[in-house]
Amino acid sequence: MNILLLGSGGREHALAWKLAQSPLCETLYAAPGNPGIADHATCVALDVADHGAVIAFCEDKRIGLVVIGPEAPLVDGLADSLRGEGIPVFGPNKGAAQLEGSKGFTKDLCAKADIPTGGYERVTNEADGLAAIARFGAPVVVKADGLAAGKGVTVAMTMAEAEMAIMEIFSGRFGEAGAEAVVEEFLEGEEASFFALTDGSTIVPFASAQDHKRVGDGDTGPNTGGMGAYSPARVLTPALQAETMTRIIAPTVRALADEGVPYNGVLFLGLMLTREGPKLIEYNCRFGDPECQVMLMRLQSDLVELLHACAQNRLGSVAPPRFSDATALTVVMAAKGYPDTPEKGGEIRGIEANENEHVKVFHAGTAVKEGALVANGGRVLNVTGVGSTVSEAQGRAYAALDAIDFPTGFARRDIGWREVAREKSAS
Ligand code: AMP
Ligand code: GLY
Repeated sequence: MNILLLGSGGREHALAWKLAQSPLCETLYAAPGNPGIADHATCVALDVADHGAVIAFCEDKRIGLVVIGPEAPLVDGLADSLRGEGIPVFGPNKGAAQLEGSKGFTKDLCAKADIPTGGYERVTNEADGLAAIARFGAPVVVKADGLAAGKGVTVAMTMAEAEMAIMEIFSGRFGEAGAEAVVEEFLEGEEASFFALTDGSTIVPFASAQDHKRVGDGDTGPNTGGMGAYSPARVLTPALQAETMTRIIAPTVRALADEGVPYNGVLFLGLMLTREGPKLIEYNCRFGDPECQVMLMRLQSDLVELLHACAQNRLGSVAPPRFSDATALTVVMAAKGYPDTPEKGGEIRGIEANENEHVKVFHAGTAVKEGALVANGGRVLNVTGVGSTVSEAQGRAYAALDAIDFPTGFARRDIGWREVAREKSAS
């Protein structure tokens, strides 16, 4: 079958790498792709906002499966348009993508379905927002309702910070995404991510991971899209995963179907492991970046078989995903200045020379200019190591990273630190 993959990040490089390994995959196309994806796919220019153009491409190339990487086209209803033409697509329709597209929608759904999450209030103007934070008291969390590129959430330790966050949202800084806000109870615990595939009725657990959102070592500095991740996150024990499946994921999938917006694709849960058990922080309607990279390094199943079965509402007819017991860990090399003003154009050398059976480097924001590989975005490379422990995977990832010649890049030095500390204390 011919497959079209949409996106251009490290997540999509990992997806392309894995999709291309499947005997079911004939020609893989990627739009727009990146230089790493180009090793596995024919990269084409397609405007994903132009649904008609995407449909015409699929018809012309006899595409049997479309895999949508990022959230924006999902929230924009591209999956609806493709399904409307009978084209199998992995990724939720617009209605179900509200799980990521509207924090208020998700909180209301959780309240209706009795899903464990923090208490909340939805507010639509500054005065109501200020009144709500006064009722909660600090610490409190303030969130712009819509997609704000990871910048719409403030975990306010003081009332002054919370007030600033409310005023910022209603000043219009986030445009449409800030027409509404959610004020939320502060949850305490360790964070972990969990992923499940669903076609709207069958649900299968995928894998767990832990991300590192802050730009600096020791989880300091501003939030980013993610500076590194590892999988599995052993802190999410089999018992906690089972609890997450029954108390959070299954009722969500049921509630969405009941609302007439059945979910098809991957559910990405941000969880807080509180003293009372796992609580939902947020849903995303796509694979995480860079969580996808580490999960796919461990995936032993045929990714095309899984995603195609999901897209055709027959997930129950294929074997559930199998993963190796190894740990995969990825470190993001970002361009200096990221997340605010990443420096573009810096040259990168020595990627292939440092890949081996335990190390794979995924491209995110790279480009080829005059024959040279250069940085072309905030997050540039994902240097990924596999090992029998987090410490081993971490050692392999950093050994490769240190040997890559990318003078305008930087990385955190402590990816996996929680788990490395646990391994040390256990040994
Ligand atoms: P989100 O964009 O919803 O993932 O939020 C970004 C980050 O803010 C999360 O990864 C958490 O670290 C933090 N956060 C969000 N909601 C809460 C909450 N209710 N309590 C504590 N921290 C939170
Ligand atoms: N790494 C977090 C995300 O993909 O949203």
